[in-house]
Amino acid sequence: LEKLPPTELLPLETFVDRSMGGAIPLPATLARLYGTLRFRAADRRPYVFANFAETIDGVVELGPPGPAGGAQVTGSDRHDRMIMGMLRALADAIVVGAGTLRSVPHHRWSPARVFPTLSEEFRSLRDRLGKPGEPLQVIVTGTGNLPVTLPVFRSREAPSMVVTTEQGANRLRSAGLPESVTLRAVSSGSRVMAETVLAAVRDQTHGDRVLVEGGPNLLADFVGESLVDELFLTLAPQIAGREEGHRRPGLVEGRQFGPEDPRWATLLSAKGNDRLLFLRYAFVPRSPRNGKPVA
Ligand SMILES: NC(=O)c1ccc[n+]([C@@H]2O[C@H](COP(=O)([O-])OP(=O)(O)OC[C@H]3O[C@@H](n4cnc5c(N)ncnc54)[C@H](OP(=O)(O)O)[C@@H]3O)[C@@H](O)[C@H]2O)c1
Repeated sequence: LEKLPPTELLPLETFVDRSMGGAIPLPATLARLYGTLRFRAADRRPYVFANFAETIDGVVELGPPGPAGGAQVTGSDRHDRMIMGMLRALADAIVVGAGTLRSVPHHRWSPARVFPTLSEEFRSLRDRLGKPGEPLQVIVTGTGNLPVTLPVFRSREAPSMVVTTEQGANRLRSAGLPESVTLRAVSSGSRVMAETVLAAVRDQTHGDRVLVEGGPNLLADFVGESLVDELFLTLAPQIAGREEGHRRPGLVEGRQFGPEDPRWATLLSAKGNDRLLFLRYAFVPRSPRNGKPVA
């Protein structure tokens, strides 16, 4: 599907756009398809935005036992892929948890991977933003229990970094993680704080935009630490349901919020094609000191 020329895609319809800030200099085709994309100036650096797709009833993964991956959720929607590629192209780093990597072990987190025929547009967007090369691919794991032969580690297509615990780093080192992959042990426990993931990313890239692509457990930590500035959420028009004994994850897993300590967002924009809704939310900034919303 992604091999079809993007000229066959219609522009997204914009229902609401309350986004503010400077317009991103999108190249012509992306501007035609998406419209204007604005980002407000960040109160803190880096600016963190997440991108997920879910069904009407909030399911982000339908398999296994059936096939896994985002294509099952969105029906391989091309606008969704265009937005995913565009958000990747804006990012200095793309962060994913080990569970997401395990679910798509051959994937590489580059803009062109999700929409090859737009690769020139993504490249030109990065050039305009002064971001050389590909975004850093960042894998977060506690255990370090990952095959070191995966393309994300072996292919030199884009730089990679693993942020993990001391135990995870030892395991990956002994398994022969290629030296081209930056390995950062940032915790002596079994998990790492989202804040330390961002610090490691900042050290490595000196960049100001980080895209979190999941999965639900990693997102829970970023949301829990109030580190997500924005969520780009694709709502696919299907109901997945859940049965006992067949766990279907929602957007956030492993932590819950509200009614105490809620995580409210405001709607920044709503766009759509003939099937899907593309929603964009901004989270209410919270104080890192006491976790309370700040005006
Ligand atoms: N629809 C969508 O937009 C979307 C997006 C992304 C993912 N998904 C789906 O989500 C499913 C995976 O769910 P998931 O919740 O397991 O994904 P995940 O959050 O990517 O992976 C969880 C694993 O990542 C590591 N991890 C996450 N946070 C960590 C932390 N703070 N410290 C240390 N390690 C951390 C741990 O790895 P270790 O076990 O190695 O310690 C943990 O077991 C997949 O099926 C995928 O297809 C859907």
